[in-house]
Amino acid sequence: MDKPRYYFTGDSEKVDLDFSKLDFSYIACPYRFEAVYEYGVWRVRGLLEGSSMEIPEGSQCLHYGQQLFEGMKAQAGADGEVYAFRPHDNARRMNAGARYLRGPELPEALFVRGIEEVVAANLPFVPPFGSGAALYLRPFYIGIGDNVGVKPASRFVFRIFVTPVGPYFKGGFGADQGKAFMVTRFDRAAPHGSGHVKAGGNYACSFWPGVEAKTKGFAEALYLDPAEHRYIDEIGAANFLAFRDRTLITPDSTSVLPSITRESLLQIAAEIFGWPTERRKIPLEELDEIRAAACCGTAAVITWIRQIADGDRVWEFPFDERWQRLYDELVGIETATAADPFGWRHRIPV
Ligand code: PLP
Ligand code: COI
Repeated sequence: MDKPRYYFTGDSEKVDLDFSKLDFSYIACPYRFEAVYEYGVWRVRGLLEGSSMEIPEGSQCLHYGQQLFEGMKAQAGADGEVYAFRPHDNARRMNAGARYLRGPELPEALFVRGIEEVVAANLPFVPPFGSGAALYLRPFYIGIGDNVGVKPASRFVFRIFVTPVGPYFKGGFGADQGKAFMVTRFDRAAPHGSGHVKAGGNYACSFWPGVEAKTKGFAEALYLDPAEHRYIDEIGAANFLAFRDRTLITPDSTSVLPSITRESLLQIAAEIFGWPTERRKIPLEELDEIRAAACCGTAAVITWIRQIADGDRVWEFPFDERWQRLYDELVGIETATAADPFGWRHRIPV
């Protein structure tokens, strides 16, 4: 399918959506990108229409969770270009997951080509610069086949769909937008398990604590390290950050997802702002000494943590201007209002 964006015609160049009012939900876009793996090679199917998939009923992804996904954003830049953020890093993380789940790696160049093609194909759905929304990209990878035994698949599908989204946590980021989180004793991943890869099973395990937290009026659950329940691990689909005095600290844990947003923020803090950073274990009790807390991720961007509650114990954290500086710099790099000293912006050829 050649340059499908030319099929869009209408009175305006944009689709009839109020991008500034979007929340984080699925809106079907016209095109998705797909490649399939069989007989040891990846075959590009390219851009497809229709949100449904047909896969064999015995597929490993359906029964044994042989599945991975990624989360990324493409955004309109202030310079009129469209950018994805660090797509090679997402490709590498997905391949770390593929190795862990005993599936074939996807060539990094194919991952990035898929991102470029699917964003260009759905161009009218890229929210305009300044709308506060973004085109969320959801690459995923599933093991398929006519199978019933507990063993890795020999066929795989890699697909990327896109959907325009607004803030992940209602209200998004801002000095009046603090969110409250509830400490759970459930675990999303085992101590030596799959927490470090983006496998769907980790998220199935988060439904119970996530729903419980939301039912009690919190934005999400905060997980402790699964071995001892002593240290802070992460929050729902976001890594934990805090300032201990001048130092930006984040948990050193093998059961959290290595967040690309967190890596970016640590690098911005250290190399642009000259702030000390530290990766180390953070005991829950240390919240007594912490004056500023946040969580971060592609969907969550930076979210100010106003409150953490563990039963009757409640910690409150005021808004800290340093979150604003980090947010502005990160979003500035993503949308070309700031320089890109680390080469993170990936221009989509459209
Ligand atoms: N932690 C979990 C469990 C996640 O699902 C995500 C989202 O991808 C993150 C952290 C943040 O990672 P990233 O910044 O790469 O989106
Ligand atoms: C992301 O931040 O991209 C995520 O994957 C979060 C998601 C589970 C909604």
